[in-house]
Amino acid sequence: MKKKRVAILGSTGSIGLNTLDVIRRYPDRFEVTLLTARNNVTVLREQIKEFSPRKVALSGDKISQLRGCGLPSSRFFDVENDLSGLVSGKDVDVVVIAMTGAAALKPFLSAVKAGKAVAPANKEALVMAGDIIMAAARKSGARIIPVDSEQSAIFQCLEGQRRCDLAKVHLTASGGPLWNIPSARYDNLTVADVLRHPRWSMGAKITVDSATLMNKGLEVIEAQRLFGLTTEQVHVVIHPQAIIHSMVEYGDGSIMAQLGVTDMRIPIQYALTYPERLSTAMKGLDLVGLGALTFLKPDMKRFPALALAYHVSREGGTVPAVLNAADEVAVEAFLLKKIKFLSIVRIVEKVVKAHEKVGMPSLEDIQRADVWARAKALALIKG
Ligand SMILES: NC(=O)c1ccc[n+]([C@@H]2O[C@H](COP(=O)([O-])OP(=O)(O)OC[C@H]3O[C@@H](n4cnc5c(N)ncnc54)[C@H](OP(=O)(O)O)[C@@H]3O)[C@@H](O)[C@H]2O)c1
Repeated sequence: MKKKRVAILGSTGSIGLNTLDVIRRYPDRFEVTLLTARNNVTVLREQIKEFSPRKVALSGDKISQLRGCGLPSSRFFDVENDLSGLVSGKDVDVVVIAMTGAAALKPFLSAVKAGKAVAPANKEALVMAGDIIMAAARKSGARIIPVDSEQSAIFQCLEGQRRCDLAKVHLTASGGPLWNIPSARYDNLTVADVLRHPRWSMGAKITVDSATLMNKGLEVIEAQRLFGLTTEQVHVVIHPQAIIHSMVEYGDGSIMAQLGVTDMRIPIQYALTYPERLSTAMKGLDLVGLGALTFLKPDMKRFPALALAYHVSREGGTVPAVLNAADEVAVEAFLLKKIKFLSIVRIVEKVVKAHEKVGMPSLEDIQRADVWARAKALALIKG
């Protein structure tokens, strides 16, 4: 069997490490040809030793720290400028987008235009420019198989069904780290409180987004773009056990659900081996032990980020890019202890309100909106 040549953007993060774990289990099926990170030289060095990629990219000022590492023929690139060219190279079959943030947009689009199979965990790029990415995929024939567990669940529930029969999707949300904490305490939450997620172990940005429910809001927009839905077709339901990863409801009232243990290696492996389902050697779900699965309505007053994301999804144009950029800046400021927890969504809301939307935007319009929103959010934080 010909090995699939895999590029992993963001190999040192939570999704990147899980992807390498999947690949470690199936060395006869996969070959890692590109690894990228931003700053984490220590972890990247170990990964290079183990997987011997031909190409590696990271921040320009860190490259010298990796010299002499890996194969004698290994080449090193600047992560800020070279990703788009690297992902469209002949030595790549599948691109796993495991890096955080808006920086993923250009390489994502480049991989899609080059007709590669793309496995995005990153949701920010799809939120910013999902219509442009999906149009490019239709043109090039690139296959996009989502890794984000909710989108993977929807993708799986759509397999073998007629798209015209779909009525709506139900995105499940665990409720995040604050679900059981009274909202009166929210303004005094520390970074450590917010980073304590009960179900998933993830990077810092997405864990904070899970606490505000902005993560679910971003997923509403992501699902809408990925699957060509209206905003009204995307529903959110709180499901604290996080066993059902999302559902698709059809015209006849039937609901298909995808269930599994909370381990990102399952959707990652599915995206890499699709349409095959290989063993993960994980302990399966103990349905009897679970006893009951519960579902609750999300409280939009307690979690205004979700209501804001629905509004932004309906608005479209450059507004989702503004929401995403302002959120990235505000979350970073919270992680650096410059603002309080409740200020995150307040700042994002103000930036969204101040934005003058461009409908049917070009990529340049989206990038301009992103830059504008970051500056606006920073000004609000400083103010
Ligand atoms: N973690 C999850 O379970 C999960 C689930 C669903 C979706 N996602 C999505 O997957 C993406 C990654 O999440 P994560 O939790 O794995 O994040 P993470 O642990 O913070 O890892 C981020 C990775 O991206 C790299 N990176 C960060 N900024 C970069 C930039 N500007 N340019 C190039 N590389 C950059 C980091 O490199 P350094 O290590 O060198 O900084 C690291 O390798 C996010 O978009 C998230 O929303 C994650």
